[in-house]
Amino acid sequence: MRLDDDVAEVLIGAERLQARVAELGRQIARDYAGLDPIFVCVLKGAILFLTDLMRQVDEHIEIDFMAISSYGGRRIESTGVVRILMDLAASIEGRHVLIVEDIIDTGRTLTYILENLRTRHPASLKVCTLLDKPERRQMDVPLAYVGFQIPDKVVIGYGLDFDEHYRNVPYIGVLKPEKYL
Ligand code: IMP
Ligand code: MG
Repeated sequence: MRLDDDVAEVLIGAERLQARVAELGRQIARDYAGLDPIFVCVLKGAILFLTDLMRQVDEHIEIDFMAISSYGGRRIESTGVVRILMDLAASIEGRHVLIVEDIIDTGRTLTYILENLRTRHPASLKVCTLLDKPERRQMDVPLAYVGFQIPDKVVIGYGLDFDEHYRNVPYIGVLKPEKYL
């Protein structure tokens, strides 16, 4: 495949992804049973994760979307400047909210989202992230559900992009350095 040529290494294959997402879904279904939570998908990176995760949750849930930008153009470092590009459609006041994220890197984006959503008085506010790069953390953020901890490498696929590309790669791969250097 053409996109495979830009990948140095498959970090997490499609089957491992699905198995872990199913585990997370079952755990979340148990934890949120009867609470009618709202899953807040952080666009665009978390969209594949959300759609697979929600299929594994056999309980009443709602979904909503929020688009955030923390990088301008070609992304290597978080700037710390976060903007809401698209806000939630519905109120979350008094609701149990689960933020669904693709990856936590420095933690700056998530810190901003948590602070912002907290001002809207949800009944609870927790985070489910597919990937976690703990080595890069600058802000201490509470993560209730983590799919995989990964090393400090630029990864793409399963929704994650580099410069808006590679989101459609069906696994998590490490991008060849010559593609971003
Ligand atoms: P943070 O604010 O530094 O935690 O950055 C979080 C955001 O940066 C994520 O939601 C991703 O959109 C993006 N990001 C961080 N690391 C990677 C990566 O390795 N590949 C693709 N996107 C990444
Ligand atoms: Mg993202």
